[in-house]
Amino acid sequence: MFIVSSPELVIAQCKAGIVGSFPVLNARPSSQLDEWLHRIAEELAAHDRANPEAPAAPFAVNQIVHRTNNRLDDDLALCEKWRVPLVITSLGAREDVNAAVHGWGGVVFHDVIDDRFARKAIEKGADGLIPVAAGAGGHAGALSPFALMQEIRAWFAGPVVLSGAIAHGRSILAAQAMGADLAYVGSPWIATPESNASPAYKHAITQGSARDIVYTNLFTGVHGNYLRGSIVAAGLDPDDLPESDPSRLDFSSGGTTAAKAWKDIWGSGQGISAVTSIEPVAVRVERLIAEYQEAQAELAARVASTSDSGAAVAGQSESANASSALKSTV
Ligand SMILES: Cc1cc2nc3c(=O)[nH]c(=O)nc-3n(C[C@H](O)[C@H](O)[C@H](O)COP(=O)(O)O)c2cc1C
Repeated sequence: MFIVSSPELVIAQCKAGIVGSFPVLNARPSSQLDEWLHRIAEELAAHDRANPEAPAAPFAVNQIVHRTNNRLDDDLALCEKWRVPLVITSLGAREDVNAAVHGWGGVVFHDVIDDRFARKAIEKGADGLIPVAAGAGGHAGALSPFALMQEIRAWFAGPVVLSGAIAHGRSILAAQAMGADLAYVGSPWIATPESNASPAYKHAITQGSARDIVYTNLFTGVHGNYLRGSIVAAGLDPDDLPESDPSRLDFSSGGTTAAKAWKDIWGSGQGISAVTSIEPVAVRVERLIAEYQEAQAELAARVASTSDSGAAVAGQSESANASSALKSTV
């Protein structure tokens, strides 16, 4: 997540067994990216040496491949230097970027908001897809995850990581039921000691729920979800925001105010009612796993009470590993 995801957050996530990721643009200037990647690679390798029975999950970086990103070549060279295992690309799939990542043995997942972009991404060589459904934090789509997954699974059998308002273990199980392989979780990690968000932002996440989220394109030119309170604090009326001009894409602008998107206008998804306190990453991961397992058991019981054949299907899914279904995000 822009501004929020730090090496501390990523390292804690990977050590807890989930893929942690960050946008390369969080490391400023580009030379800092070298230091961050060095630190992440070194600390995870040390963890693996000390805990061979519970090695860290791989980490990922997010690359904005849009033409306004003039750091792309330098950042990609650093990802090659550190052989970043997973690259998440956003805003316009590119064959050259995919080929470069494949060149060092990395894997590319592209994030998409509809089936048309999903098809383009795979045509251009992405290995997997991250459908960003309605209700996701930051730049989000407007489509129901049911519709999005249904359309993508009609033609794509490769890895799919569903994103949008997933904040409870039950929702991870639901994502799998919809056909996703993994869940992509963003906003809940804001309210952790390891995240780079301000104390007020973390607190706001613990207090918020879906009705506190506003969907607007005002701040960056692309539609996204933001916390209502931060918009009010910037002196704007969240119920009467002007439309932005999408031809003026700017990923750091504060729209019509002096407040800067992401720093003062706080991104958040609709799922945050599940986040009621600031807790360490490892604790939140354990909670998600426990919720997932409880939901599995409840579902199995529900299916068993309605049909014998259905119970057999639910029984098979009990072998699924909750932590392998969970992925953290940029
Ligand atoms: C504050 C914030 C910043 C984000 N920044 C980025 C980003 O820089 N690049 C990106 O691909 N996605 C970004 N996202 C979107 C996430 O990758 C992800 O799709 C989203 O958080 C999932 O929805 P959820 O927050 O409801 O879990 C951001 C999300 C938030 C909340």
